[in-house]
Order: sequence, then C-alpha cells, then structure tokens
Amino acid sequence: MTFNPTTIIEPFRIKSVEPIRHRSREQREAALAAAHHNLFLIRANDVLIDLLTDSGTGAMSSAQWSAMMRGDESYAGADSFYRFEASVQSITGLRHVIPTHQGRAAERILFTTMVQPGDIVPNNTHFDTTRANVEARGATALDLPTPDARHPSTIHPFKGNMDLEALERILATEGDRIPLVMMTVTNNSGGGQPVSLENLRAVRRLCLAAGKPLFLDACRFAENAWFIREREAAWSGVPPKTIAQAMFAEVDGATMSAKKDGMANIGGFLAMNDDDLARRCRDNLVLTEGFPTYGGLAGYDLEAIAVGLDEALDEDYLRYRIRSVAYLGDRLKSAGIPMVEPPGGHALYIDAAAMLPHIPALEYPAWALSCVLYLVGGVRSVEIGSVMFGQQPDGTERPAAMELVRLAFPRRVYTQSHVDYLAEVLLHVHERRDTIRGLRITEQPPALRHFTAHLAPAHGTLLAP
Ligand code: F0G
Repeated sequence: MTFNPTTIIEPFRIKSVEPIRHRSREQREAALAAAHHNLFLIRANDVLIDLLTDSGTGAMSSAQWSAMMRGDESYAGADSFYRFEASVQSITGLRHVIPTHQGRAAERILFTTMVQPGDIVPNNTHFDTTRANVEARGATALDLPTPDARHPSTIHPFKGNMDLEALERILATEGDRIPLVMMTVTNNSGGGQPVSLENLRAVRRLCLAAGKPLFLDACRFAENAWFIREREAAWSGVPPKTIAQAMFAEVDGATMSAKKDGMANIGGFLAMNDDDLARRCRDNLVLTEGFPTYGGLAGYDLEAIAVGLDEALDEDYLRYRIRSVAYLGDRLKSAGIPMVEPPGGHALYIDAAAMLPHIPALEYPAWALSCVLYLVGGVRSVEIGSVMFGQQPDGTERPAAMELVRLAFPRRVYTQSHVDYLAEVLLHVHERRDTIRGLRITEQPPALRHFTAHLAPAHGTLLAP
C-alpha cells in the first residue's frame, strides 16, 4: 500500500511550551491606547499571536540547546568561534567571518568602513535598518526593485529581483559615487519575495564590469534557496545547501542577521573575501562590538548559530516553513483579501491600500489595519508603509510605495491551528473593513519613527460604530 500524504506536518514535536494568554477586548483597547496606537509599545504579554517579526523569535532545537552547553566563553580564540566560522564558511565560502551582535551591527560596520557622504548604495530594496545605516553616512540608499515588485497582485516567481536596466544605468552615470552594490535575499521590504540565481548572476556581471563589490544581505538566504529550488527550473530538486553555496559564490561579502535563518535568538555576522577590507572592519568592530572572535556575542550564541545555519537548510523544515505561509495565503485569497502575491517566505503581506481605499496614505491605512487586527484578535503584525518609510531625511513626509501589513512567522513556533485562528481574525476584519478609520502622528523621533512614534485616531475613533 503506497501512501502519499498531502498534509505537510510540522517536522518537529514539542518539548517545551510557553503559555499564551487571552485578553478581553476591553483589556486590548486599554493596552492599545496606553501604547499610543503603536504595537511596538505594547507589552508582549498582552499579545495572543505575535507576528511582529520573525527576527530572534524562533524556537531553538534540542540540538542547539545542547550545543550551547559547549559554549567556550574565552575572550579570545574560543573554540565556539571556530565552530561558528566553519559553519558560516561551509555555506558562504567567504574567507573572513566577523561575528556581530545582530544584522544592523554588521551593516553599520560595513557602511562606516566603505561608504562616504554623497555616495549611493543600490539595493533591490533596503530594509529599514540598512537604509538608516546608509543614510546615517550621509549617503543615498537607492532601491532598484524589478518593476513587477511594485504591483502587489501581479504574480511573478522572483519579485525580489533587481531591476537590471536601472542598475546598469546608475552604474554608468553615477559609478564614481557607488562604493558597493547590495542584494537583499529574500527582499523583506518588498514582500519577502525571492531573488533568482539568474538575476543575482546578472547583477554580479554588471558589478564586475563596473568594478564594484557585491554584498548580500543574507538574512533569509535559506528561504531564498528554497524558492530557487521550487521556481527556477535549473535548480529543481537540488539540495538547499548547494543552492545557498551557489548564491554566495556570486558575492564578495555578506551581512547577516542570524536572528532569521541563523535560527538563533540573537547574533549576526559580516563576511567577505577582501583581506584589507576585513582588517578595517575588524578594527571598527573592536570599537563597539568586541574582540573579533566573539563580536558582541557569548560563546554559547556562536554555538547556537553554528547549528542553526545548518538546520535552516533542512528540506523538511523549509517545505513546512514555506507551506505554512502559503496555507494562510490560500485561505485569505479565497476570501478575496488583497495581498502581495505570491506569499513571501517568512511572512504574508496584506495590501492595505487595496483593502482600505477609503483611507488616504498619510492617514496610514496599513498602520490602522494592524491596530485593528490587534484589537479584534490579539494579533500583532507590523506596518510596512508610510509610517515606516514616509519620513524623509530632510524632515518632510512622502507616501511609501506600498501600504502593507506584514504577518511575519517566527520559526518553528506556531502550529496550523494558530494559522487557522489567524485566518478567522483576518476574514472577520475584512468583512467589516469599511468601518476602519485612519490615524495621525502626534509625536515622532527624527528617524526610524515607527518604533517609537505616538499616533491617535484621525477621526475620533479607529473603528466607526
Ligand atoms: N536586513 C534585513 C533584510 C532584515 O529583515 C533585517 C531585520 C535586518 C537586515 C537587520 O537585522 O534586526 O538583526 O539587526 N529585520 C527584522 C524584521 C527586524 O522584522 O524584518 P537585525
């Protein structure tokens, strides 16, 4: 009797559990008001399903926890560093591996070392911390996504790709101001969409012709590798690790947040081939992160990442991971809820501009929707729209290209019934979408305002009676 199941089960069993708590609607209303309508300012304990981010929120495996017991806490030359370095090198092939406490520390070190005021850094799409670190240098963070990426409902297998013509043009006209080119895999701010190897190789050729180093923002390299295997004919059925190695073979270096596909709760790295650049980056690292063999991490963190990087490339894990997001996508799509299609690897992105056309961009439709999802279902999501990206370095405000609500899935944390509940919340809110009203900002910092801004309903209440 041959049995070919269609159900994709979670490829793990649960060994340790953490309770989540229901709150009443009134309690959530009070919590949201006390947090000035900013979900970053809510206590996690008041959240039922937390999809704020997939960063550092995953469940570690028993293999990771046991590796942590081997953590060598020597200040210099710890064994844990060498295991970490070997793990990173076996995937990336990059010569120099510099641990950092998380991704943005790698970005800061790279950009303060390589980027000068007035420079331009092209990227398929900068993540917010990447953009902020480029701009903090007085340089321009230039997003060059493939034109398909601008249309949430257009289905394209590799919407994370770089616009090659635009890159070629900027390299030709502004080459002197470009110290490096970045590629973000998967393209988080653009909907968690993958980059094809074909596109990465074409970017590489343009960079080589222009004499520019290419760096990967590799946070979700394993998910990207899985999409390549599923969607790029030449790589069908190839082990994810082989594909990841092929991706890294195209670049001169990488920044990495190990809080994503490193399967760790903290950590990251900067890696590269250039000896002189690595020396300057290490000098820079010592100023704020620590000695180059621990870079702001404990020995046990390095161990967790060394094991986690490998687990992220496991086929059963990746199949389940990508399927859980697609499963939610299927449920929402059949209810007509507009979203970025196809669903991303780590997250589903609701298209709030399409769902709430009655709310103007600068009354922040995606922010309003994320507040309502919390009020109604205790679900925490994150706005990727005009609150996150509308603030310009000169202090003015411009609508973002898209108004998205990201539902990001922590790794190995939630099961199918959590996802079913989530679908129910979204369907309920979608049916009553006409009652949702916009917000205004009452207080904000000069940069990265979404983390701490205070907002209030622009028209008295968030939900019309
Ligand atoms: N690059 C990308 C593409 C990211 O998604 C992130 C973080 C970073 C860099 C920075 O890494 O947080 O370790 O400093 N993204 C998280 C998110 C915060 O929610 O998407 P970090």
